Amino acid sequence: MGLTVSELTDMIQAVGKVIEDNKAFLTELDSAIGDADHGINMAKGFHAVKEKLPTLADADAGTVLKTVGMTLVSTVGGASGPLYGTAFLRAGMKIGNKEELLAVDLDLGLVAALEGIKQRGRAEPGDKTIVDALQPAVMALKESLNAGKTATEALGAAVTAAEDGVEYTKGIIARKGRASYLGERSLGHQDPGATSTYLMLRTMQEFLARRT
Ligand SMILES: Nc1ncnc2c1ncn2[C@@H]1O[C@H](COP(=O)(O)OP(=O)(O)OP(=O)(O)O)[C@@H](O)[C@H]1O
Ligand SMILES: [Mg+2]
Repeated sequence: MGLTVSELTDMIQAVGKVIEDNKAFLTELDSAIGDADHGINMAKGFHAVKEKLPTLADADAGTVLKTVGMTLVSTVGGASGPLYGTAFLRAGMKIGNKEELLAVDLDLGLVAALEGIKQRGRAEPGDKTIVDALQPAVMALKESLNAGKTATEALGAAVTAAEDGVEYTKGIIARKGRASYLGERSLGHQDPGATSTYLMLRTMQEFLARRT
């Protein structure tokens, strides 16, 4: 895969753009089972990231990811800022001072991100959260890489698994966050955070597919 730090930065900017483009959609999803701010929160965070990234031209990959994480934690209110912030922070800590990322780093980074979110949110699969998209995605990625697929192909499998995960959240009752106050009334609605995770992974996959 051989992703340079400059390409990693472009990839994060592409993710930010998709989040911004889906601000209204994510907010609408959160209006059904939350407090109608998920798109607003995420767009605010990635707007701050967009301003911050140009100051990191000479940084290594871990520093870029950690800075994105800290920026999300410090600019986004609500549950999703600290959760996604922790995900990027943990990925950055795991990847460290590399100048080029390989498929194995994608795997390590996403595993660390998932573990960070599960710890920080005390969330497990089936709680109707980000974890319901991210955990199956991480598992599908790993399985594909083990089967000898390229990073782009493996991320494609991860995207499909995340999409299935989003679909799965429609049929379960929320056990974490504000949506959990709704009990059975959270049924039938897809989880906003699982949806933003799917969108982020899909954007990463499209970015990799464009360059290979
Ligand atoms: N404890 C948790 N662990 C993992 N993900 C969570 C947790 N709590 C909420 N989420 C995710 O955050 C999303 C909501 O993010 P949002 O930006 O709307 O923050 P929020 O309004 O503060 O969240 P919430 O109302 O769920 O506490 C949910 O759809 C869910 O995927
Ligand atoms: Mg909300």
